Amino acid sequence: MPYKAYALNLKTSTALTPKMTDDKYYDTIAPAYDELHLEEQSKKLEIIKKELKIDKETKLLDVGCGSGISSQFDCDVTGIDPSEELIKIAEKRVPSAQFMVENAEALPFEDKSFDAVVSLTAIQNFSNIKKGVEEIKRVGKKQFALSFLKKSEKAEEIENLIKEIFPKAKRIEEEKDVIFIIN
Ligand SMILES: C[S@@+](CC[C@H](N)C(=O)[O-])C[C@H]1O[C@@H](n2cnc3c(N)ncnc32)[C@H](O)[C@@H]1O
Repeated sequence: MPYKAYALNLKTSTALTPKMTDDKYYDTIAPAYDELHLEEQSKKLEIIKKELKIDKETKLLDVGCGSGISSQFDCDVTGIDPSEELIKIAEKRVPSAQFMVENAEALPFEDKSFDAVVSLTAIQNFSNIKKGVEEIKRVGKKQFALSFLKKSEKAEEIENLIKEIFPKAKRIEEEKDVIFIIN
């Protein structure tokens, strides 16, 4: 099936809240991911870019970077995602960044390794949301931008958790996501 038809077929059945528990879900949809989500994810990225103070020296981690849409910052970027197929696309999209196949729940970095940590529309997919958000806090220093899908069945749980872990977070309601900014 051509990618466009494949993407449209997926659009009716999946969107960004997979019901599949299969770890390989995002590998399966990787060829169609950009077709499905490039436009909406790019809009969210622009909001985040306006809120964070990033310069060329900034060390930034993108947790759940997917195909690298959310890794497009003009600084020292590392992206992690459990989907090998999405990571391959990210490596082509942002050749200047480093990408690793890893999970949010066990980030392979020292405490306070990054000036900024972003996670765009990925938290609702973590298998252990509390552990993942705690890991994000552990490896970051001061700036964070975290978003999740408003329509996720875990949205309330995630929102309460972020408010607990980052009590000074600024809340922005975007069309599809709630975005929390800490800086
Ligand atoms: C909707 S996509 C968002 C991708 C990217 N941030 C973007 O803006 O396009 C959700 C991503 O979360 C990733 N993900 C799922 N479980 C994860 C985990 N435990 N740790 C980190 N990322 C995870 C998926 O592989 C997928 O790439």
